[in-house]
Amino acid sequence: MKIIETVPEMQRFSDALRAGGKRIGFVPTMGYFHEGHLSLMRIARERADVVVISIFVNPTQFGPDEDLEDYPRDFERDREMAESVGVDVIFNPSVDQMYPDRYQTYVTVQEVSKDLCGPSRPVHFRGVATVCTKLFCAVKPHFAVFGEKDYQQLQVINRLVLDLGMDLEIVPGPTFREPDGLAMSSRNVYLSPAERKSALSLRKALEEARRLFDSGEQSVEAIVEGASRTIREYEGTRIDYVKVADAASCIPLSGEIEGDCVLALAVYLGKTRLIDNMVFRLPESDE
Ligand code: PAF
Repeated sequence: MKIIETVPEMQRFSDALRAGGKRIGFVPTMGYFHEGHLSLMRIARERADVVVISIFVNPTQFGPDEDLEDYPRDFERDREMAESVGVDVIFNPSVDQMYPDRYQTYVTVQEVSKDLCGPSRPVHFRGVATVCTKLFCAVKPHFAVFGEKDYQQLQVINRLVLDLGMDLEIVPGPTFREPDGLAMSSRNVYLSPAERKSALSLRKALEEARRLFDSGEQSVEAIVEGASRTIREYEGTRIDYVKVADAASCIPLSGEIEGDCVLALAVYLGKTRLIDNMVFRLPESDE
């Protein structure tokens, strides 16, 4: 497996692959892998001739009070895990490579970034859109895989690629869960044993929303209330938001559920903020 640390070397490597007719699949990550990351790499492995992943803890997507300094890192462990699923290249740039002196160019995906996680993490999606644009320029992939667990991020990237006419496909990867249903996240390591128990509230809230929806409930407010009530039943949970939003624009809905939508939630357990989501599709009407 090859490790590349600079943008020009990554670009030269990808240019040569493209010239040789190879299909490049890309999985951007911030490292500290779990099975969820590996599942995205396996999706890339199945569809690509060459799989490139990036490991880069991107400073521009963390707010001043967020966990940039403490974000878990273990390059050697990540390297071994990536190798075990057949990754060919790890692109592992330094902060200076990605953000050279006097850096001043940012990409904002306006509407999709605005609500859900947007208010609590005001710089987050601008940082994600910017770093992904830069990673795509460095890696030049034919497709990139993004997890559905970070649902709003996936929609930000879909919109970014569409709006800027980028020549790559975005492939969604299903959320990977622990046996009890908790969505896998690098931040789960921060949870104390008691918080880990209450973290299950997110999955249970989604299940309650699904139960209501499947039994014919179509009121956004009733579904949000059912999910919120479930979360509050668990000790130590603090809801950041529980919202039903349009599945593509991520703009919250009210009244009756219409078209494809997503129930998205963010919950604090102590200092750790966890997110999860579930997509609801109304059956096509015959008319
Ligand atoms: O989902 C992540 O790990 C990050 O937000 C990403 C897409 C690698 C950008 O830094």
